[in-house]
Amino acid sequence: MVIDSIKYSKIVFFTGAGMSAESGVPTYRGSGGIWDSYKWQDYACQSAFDANPEHVLDFHELRRIEAKKCKPHVGHQIITEIQNNNKSSWIVTQNIDGMHQRAQSKNVIELHGSLWELRCEAEMKIFMDIKNPEYAERSCKCGLILRPNIIWFEDNLNQKILNKTYEIVSQCDLFISIGTSGSVFPAAGIPKLAKSNGALCIEINPENTPMSSNYDMKIRKSASEGLIDLRKEL
Ligand code: APR
Repeated sequence: MVIDSIKYSKIVFFTGAGMSAESGVPTYRGSGGIWDSYKWQDYACQSAFDANPEHVLDFHELRRIEAKKCKPHVGHQIITEIQNNNKSSWIVTQNIDGMHQRAQSKNVIELHGSLWELRCEAEMKIFMDIKNPEYAERSCKCGLILRPNIIWFEDNLNQKILNKTYEIVSQCDLFISIGTSGSVFPAAGIPKLAKSNGALCIEINPENTPMSSNYDMKIRKSASEGLIDLRKEL
């Protein structure tokens, strides 16, 4: 692989579940994916929460316990290293596990929210505890049961976060997608925005995806292997 020797000034890393897979966090789709074992209709949508909030909160608590056991891998560290040398680089992630932040990355946009946050819909307050997977309180002081601050199926994305993402992606000159199936919109449309604004687009994924034709370069390797290759070029 040869990347032109131009120094890219605005880099966006666009990450999905495959980025966390080598840390031991399961992906959503494919064999062993979360949606193989759990029906999202029972655990990851507002109507499931309305019907049985404790059941949904237990599921998310389990995911926090599992995520806590995992550690960022060399690929996360390479992104942090690149960011340290390039202050105008961003991470736009669909992941909710907080792994980029645990690798000390900055400028992280969490498109689908965070597993580590709960929110009170009445007071619009967000409660965050990145250390304790088992939240001491499941209810707000106002009495309302707290909801995971996650974009679930059938939810709209947060418009402010989406606007910020569009602004950053439309200005980037290098767009590196890592470990996403490109099947969940509107996130899956983001690479097209980078491409139409002239960014060099690179896909790191062992598999072909519905968005692969959008990319100028495809690295058919795992996230860590692909990022090790890429680091030599940047
Ligand atoms: N390195 C890189 N990519 C990998 C690896 C790996 N080690 N292992 C798997 N992959 C790739 C798979 O080939 C697949 O294309 O990661 C992708 C994972 O796809 P999904 O499970 O669909 O995850 P993602 O694209 O992040 O899903 C988007 O769907 O369920 C929702 O809200 C959830 O944010 C999630 C969204």
